[in-house]
Amino acid sequence: MRARAAARAAAAELAREGIPDPEFEAEYLVRQAAGLTRAQYFADVELPASAQARLRELLDRRLQREPAAYIAGTREFYGLDFDVGPGVLVPRPETELLVDAVLRECGPGGATIIDAGTGSGCIAVTVALRAPGAYVVGVDVSGDALRVARRNARRHGAAVAFVRGDLATAIRAADIVAANLPYIPSEEVVELEPEVRYWEPAVALDGGPDGTVLIRRLIDDCSTRLRPRLLALEVGFGQAGDVAAYAAANGARVEVAKDLAGIDRHVLCRWT
Ligand SMILES: C[S@@+](CC[C@H](N)C(=O)[O-])C[C@H]1O[C@@H](n2cnc3c(N)ncnc32)[C@H](O)[C@@H]1O
Repeated sequence: MRARAAARAAAAELAREGIPDPEFEAEYLVRQAAGLTRAQYFADVELPASAQARLRELLDRRLQREPAAYIAGTREFYGLDFDVGPGVLVPRPETELLVDAVLRECGPGGATIIDAGTGSGCIAVTVALRAPGAYVVGVDVSGDALRVARRNARRHGAAVAFVRGDLATAIRAADIVAANLPYIPSEEVVELEPEVRYWEPAVALDGGPDGTVLIRRLIDDCSTRLRPRLLALEVGFGQAGDVAAYAAANGARVEVAKDLAGIDRHVLCRWT
């Protein structure tokens, strides 16, 4: 069977399962199964039997709603490929803007930067590579996440210290704290799309009754103890106003930044 015919058949199966963008996903799976570049795919090469068997395997996984990034084992973030898999959240594009906010604040000196809830390590590793003078620490409660984050730091030669801990409580001092913490209200986790609900770890999603329990705890710690010059928080849809008000009530000067979809996504808090 040729590559594009295989993709058409795969797209039909994906569409029957209600998976969005079936043609795009099918091309991706065919290329992944056969190790094809886009040019080879469009040249419509014949797929060997081994690639067809591999495609069946990958397609069956995707039909179980396993995220494409877990199937590939990798996801691009800020121009770098990060290992991902069960146990870590797949990095989202809006988080690249959180990295931008941190990098703008770094300056030339050797800032201490904490990534609270580091997951795959995408924020910590990117910041360490882009701000070479900085001392970067990635913290997570999840041992699975820390294993993947350490692998990603090694893969990219990034100097990041990883610590297992609760938010930033294990940290004595920080100039900048970045955090993309779980922010989905507990009751809404079951309403998420199957790729997220069934596959991504609950500890990376569930932000407590209103979604902002961990975020507010981190604001408390920053306002009373760490007082970083920047706390950069990623928040869910509709949460920025309340989170900003909470930080302001705790003495921060606050700015809210939108993501590329125009959603208030990042709350930037300053105490100094
Ligand atoms: C939404 S994911 C973000 C992962 C990564 N920073 C990113 O942007 O893709 C949240 C991460 O916070 C971690 N986490 C949850 N509760 C935590 C806590 N109390 N202290 C530290 N990390 C926590 C989860 O294990 C998960 O890796």
